Amino acid sequence: MTHEEIIDNTRQFVETSLAGAEGGHDWWHIYRVWKLAVNIAAAEKADILVVELAALLHDIADAKFHDGDETKGPRMAGEFLQTLNVDEHVIDHVSKIISNISFKGGQVARTFSSAELSVVQDADRLDAMGAIGIARTFNYGGFRNREIYNPGIPPVPGMDKETYRLSQAPTINHFYEKLLLLKDLMNTGTGKRMAERRHDFMLAYLDEFFREWEGEN
Ligand code: NI
Repeated sequence: MTHEEIIDNTRQFVETSLAGAEGGHDWWHIYRVWKLAVNIAAAEKADILVVELAALLHDIADAKFHDGDETKGPRMAGEFLQTLNVDEHVIDHVSKIISNISFKGGQVARTFSSAELSVVQDADRLDAMGAIGIARTFNYGGFRNREIYNPGIPPVPGMDKETYRLSQAPTINHFYEKLLLLKDLMNTGTGKRMAERRHDFMLAYLDEFFREWEGEN
């Protein structure tokens, strides 16, 4: 199978698997992360097949929609890639990237490192920032029936991963618990540069939000 055929098959598999997914974690999130990852990979000398497959498959069974089960995603991705007869080394690498990519409160150390993980993780983090990040955050908050903001419930940065997963805090808190921390967690030079603009946009948005909250204009 050619590179294009592998990517095309994987794309179709992911689109089908994520039909009906929450709007911030659907096929279009995958599409954006895939495009970002390809852009970053070009500057970072990463293996493009591994990067594309990991980007396409990274949320195939996101733990936050599967009762915290972190083994299901890598397993589903591996089983699918085997049906395409993809090289075992590539499958193993893609599975390891999927196991290590997510934020989980920012408190969990990586058990694996590679240029390709760095690229895909940066792409996934960039899609949690800026205008898209804001849209996804409020969509997820609505999906979980969270309050938009509550001045009586302050943010709690540095939660352990289980507390973070089960948090019912207002959506605005998520900016202080995760989104504004991402800029300093970027792995690649390209990712860092792209993160600056998205970070500044979120700060401007929050500034406006709190002005309007208190009835100012
Ligand atoms: Ni993702």
